[in-house]
Amino acid sequence: MFKIIDGKKLAHEMRMDIKKKIEEYKSESGKEIGLAVVLVGEDPASQVYVRNKIRACEEVGIKSFAYYLDKDTAQSRVEELIRSLSVDNKINGILVQLPLPSQLDAKRILELIPFSKDVDGFSAENIGKLAMNEPCLVACTPNGVMKMLESENIGISGKSAVVIGRSNIVGKPMAMLLTNANATVTLCHSKTKNLKEICAGADIIVAALGKAKFVTEDMVKEGAVVIDVGMDRDENGKLCGDVDFENVKAKCSYITPVPGGVGPMTITMLMYNTYLSATRS
Ligand code: GUN
Repeated sequence: MFKIIDGKKLAHEMRMDIKKKIEEYKSESGKEIGLAVVLVGEDPASQVYVRNKIRACEEVGIKSFAYYLDKDTAQSRVEELIRSLSVDNKINGILVQLPLPSQLDAKRILELIPFSKDVDGFSAENIGKLAMNEPCLVACTPNGVMKMLESENIGISGKSAVVIGRSNIVGKPMAMLLTNANATVTLCHSKTKNLKEICAGADIIVAALGKAKFVTEDMVKEGAVVIDVGMDRDENGKLCGDVDFENVKAKCSYITPVPGGVGPMTITMLMYNTYLSATRS
């Protein structure tokens, strides 16, 4: 029998807990917690994400400061904004929604965010600390995956884990988190040979490659834990993940659905990181 890990339910429980912690912090310190959210342009998916992030702030008691900039905004204007947010005491976290329009140099913009306010955990400092297993702000999606595994008491130590996809935002930090938790990790990508065989030997599979229904039943070991980070569209335009859920589920001990799996956890971990950056500084 397989169990579906309900990300929506866990995200709700965690948000209630974060809300309580924030209330305590605010009443003890007399301070607010602020998150700046910067959106450049009108990418529809980014607009939805930003709206959900602002709504989550309201839910947990974080003050959000939204900056909506025109798609043609100059590099210097965005840099000026990030510089001013960096030294603003009301702002504990700065989030620049990606992707940025092509005229902008995203790397240079992100590098202006001080690592103490880098609530996305994308900076070289935070990634480096994660690699060295030191306290840091951890990228939200992989951190959310770890919370999902913890919530079900799924043991990681000594297990073989396969991460499919090597993005800086998900795959690489995911592989580091699993390594820090003592899994033996294989990080697979588009050039990996024998991907199917590697997956078929894994106790834990995290699919984060961005290809609809890529993981099929023949790639999954009996009793494996399968975590789906994908947000794709199937042949009928319906939202689905990187895992062929219906085809794979019967072989799993645990599996996450799309939607309602990892997705809701990402924004919850953003709230948690914002709380951490307020209380640690
Ligand atoms: N675009 C897609 N996912 C993310 C994310 O986690 N953070 C930011 N800033 N942009 C994104």
